[in-house]
Amino acid sequence: MHTACTMSSSLSPTQMLLLLLSLCICKISLASSSSSEDDAFRRWVSWNVENYRRETSSNAMLTAQAPGIPGKKVVDWKLWKAEMSKIRKTVSQDGTGDYRTVSEALNSIPAFNTRRVILVVKPGIYREKINVPRQMSFVTFLGDSTSPPTITGNDTASVTGRGGTPLKTFQSATVAVDADYFVAINVKFENTAPHEVGSLGEQAVALRISGTKAAFYNCSFIGNQDTLYDHKGLHYFNNCFIQGSVDFIFGYGRSLYENCHLNSVTKKVASLTAQKRTNASLASGFSFKNSTITGSGLLYLGRAWGDYSRVIFSYTFMDRVVAPQGWSDWGDPKRDARVYYGEYKCSGPGANTTGRVPWATMLTDEEAQPFLGTYYIEGDTWLPSL
Ligand SMILES: *[C@@H]1O[C@H](CO)[C@@H](O)[C@H](O)[C@H]1NC(C)=O
Ligand SMILES: *[C@@H]1O[C@H](CO)[C@@H](O)[C@H](O)[C@H]1NC(C)=O
Ligand SMILES: *[C@@H]1O[C@H](CO)[C@@H](O)[C@H](O)[C@H]1NC(C)=O
Ligand SMILES: *[C@@H]1O[C@H](CO)[C@@H](O)[C@H](O)[C@H]1NC(C)=O
Ligand SMILES: *[C@@H]1O[C@H](CO)[C@@H](O)[C@H](O)[C@H]1NC(C)=O
Repeated sequence: MHTACTMSSSLSPTQMLLLLLSLCICKISLASSSSSEDDAFRRWVSWNVENYRRETSSNAMLTAQAPGIPGKKVVDWKLWKAEMSKIRKTVSQDGTGDYRTVSEALNSIPAFNTRRVILVVKPGIYREKINVPRQMSFVTFLGDSTSPPTITGNDTASVTGRGGTPLKTFQSATVAVDADYFVAINVKFENTAPHEVGSLGEQAVALRISGTKAAFYNCSFIGNQDTLYDHKGLHYFNNCFIQGSVDFIFGYGRSLYENCHLNSVTKKVASLTAQKRTNASLASGFSFKNSTITGSGLLYLGRAWGDYSRVIFSYTFMDRVVAPQGWSDWGDPKRDARVYYGEYKCSGPGANTTGRVPWATMLTDEEAQPFLGTYYIEGDTWLPSL
């Protein structure tokens, strides 16, 4: 007992509890009390040990070094608690699930949600306009990878909204997510409104993500002008297919796109991204890694929506569709010295840098480093490990 007491000074309460438990197990195995009681007790002990093991490994998943503070860890406790109490609901159009539409399922979630709610969305075409409101955190849309559900709409910026005024780009989204900690897996987000060259008011967003700490795996984003509104916050996209004509990924999020396929359907000339970093001290910017660019027309990699627009492509295959100049300042030469448009170890005919604008940066190993991992989006503190 003395040894235990001395040791306890350096032990955490949980470790202390485990130590006491292990002493108890020892005692019990020596004693010969009733076996059903023993079993119940052992189950309880192993439940605790298991819980502790889970807790420590999940903590490792959700813990990270605090930036600039050596030795200080940050834990996203809200997320941790939400994941520990997750529930599932099923959406199926044939009535075999809990709900027939995604909107109905969302309506069943409390406004100030604190647990992970996984909406298993069965295959089908869901013609719905969806908003995940600001306080409805921790929602997951989970589709089937062999037959992903499609959520579709065709609103544009010029369509008249309920108040009698045009929706504008922001409200045109088929799916708008204002909540934090959103996840989508195997889902197709679509806006089918067409785009004619030179026309106005045809911005038609398939998905807008305005909440932070959002992750998208195996998703498709299909549209024309302004397909994916990567509005603001920390975002992760993995193995996604993103298609559009004009500025089809835009906004001022800080986002990492990995293993994605970016496909242009532009008829003439357009830009893949329009990133809106507006001043040099903002951490926002799009980083594309190990992706593929294909499609029609002539495509700039980015045009400067904000004066300090920041976009990086690394290890990306660029097909012929990419314009030799690569980047556009949107007709404002003062932006040439302010934007941060980087390329690193890209390949394919579109990656030929001979015709590039002089203010594009061919990144050194050191310059590229900050953009190459999930640390770019502080992923260690919140990204789910699937
Ligand atoms: C949008 O879709 C609806 C329903 O399919 C259709 O009635 C409408 O004409 C479409 N609007 C546009 C602008 O394509
Ligand atoms: C993503 O899709 C692939 C098939 O392309 C599938 O094997 C994988 O399980 C999917 N990932 C998730 C998280 O469902
Ligand atoms: C790069 O992307 C391709 C296609 O999505 C994927 O198959 C491959 O595993 C990725 N490579 C790495 C190193 O992530
Ligand atoms: C940059 O933007 C941030 C956030 O809007 C603001 O707090 C900061 O003052 C701005 N800095 C400059 C130099 O404009
Ligand atoms: C890059 O483009 C230039 C100009 O079009 C051309 O002369 C050169 O051969 C190209 N380089 C490669 C590696 O294809």
